[in-house]
Amino acid sequence: MLQTESCREIQARALELRRAGHSIALVPTMGFLHQGHLELMCRARQQADKVIVSIFVNPIQFGPNEDLDSYPRDLEGDLEKCAGVGVDLVFTPTPEELYPDRQFQTSVEVSRITRGLCGAGRPGHFKGVTTVVCKLFNLTQPDYAFFGEKDFQQLAVIRRMTEDLNFPIKIIGVPIVREEDGLALSSRNAYLSETERRDAPAIHEALKRARDLYRQGLHDSEKLLREAAEHIERRITSPCEIEYLKLCRADDLEEISGPVAGPAIILTAVRLGRTRLIDNLQLQP
Ligand code: PAF
Repeated sequence: MLQTESCREIQARALELRRAGHSIALVPTMGFLHQGHLELMCRARQQADKVIVSIFVNPIQFGPNEDLDSYPRDLEGDLEKCAGVGVDLVFTPTPEELYPDRQFQTSVEVSRITRGLCGAGRPGHFKGVTTVVCKLFNLTQPDYAFFGEKDFQQLAVIRRMTEDLNFPIKIIGVPIVREEDGLALSSRNAYLSETERRDAPAIHEALKRARDLYRQGLHDSEKLLREAAEHIERRITSPCEIEYLKLCRADDLEEISGPVAGPAIILTAVRLGRTRLIDNLQLQP
């Protein structure tokens, strides 16, 4: 497995691989890898001849009061995990390498689909994500790129960008990997105190409650959301705030009001103490 911090080197290697006729799958990450990331890598391994993983805590997708400085990091452990699942190349740039001082002036922004949900509470976040993903696409020349469905809005935004900007890349979403008690795996779970960790599965339970009621025939979006919110408020004992809890159309993430008709998804962001957790569940299987 080759590791490089250099943009020039990763791009040269990727172009070499393409010239030799190999297909490439990219798995972009911010490191502190968990089973969810490893699942993306295994899927990538099955799909393409060569797998490139990027590990980069992207400063431009964090707001001024967010957790950029405290974001968990473990490069040595991450590299071992990548080697363990047969990754070919790991790209670990520094912020200066990707955004050279005073030169960097370009960004990529997707409009409508970034406005609600996480975009509403994290202004500039998706612009930071699409800008870095665009750079990673150009640097690693992938045929396939893998993203987790936990960040469902991010996946939809990246699909939109890929289509709008005609990248010849197939975007593949991979289902959420959960702990046994239902908590969606996330690097940020490392921030949770013992009590918060005990409370956290209530988020997934609440989404399941809405889905079960939907399957039993309750299609009124307001009632479904109320049931889910009440479950969170009842079950979580530590300080907690629901940042958003919404029902949206699964394809374009437009918010649903009134009766749910067609493929829909319930999405939430909950602040549990200082930790912001997101989760989602499609109402239809
Ligand atoms: O989902 C993430 O880890 C990040 O948002 C991504 C896609 C690697 C871009 O920095």
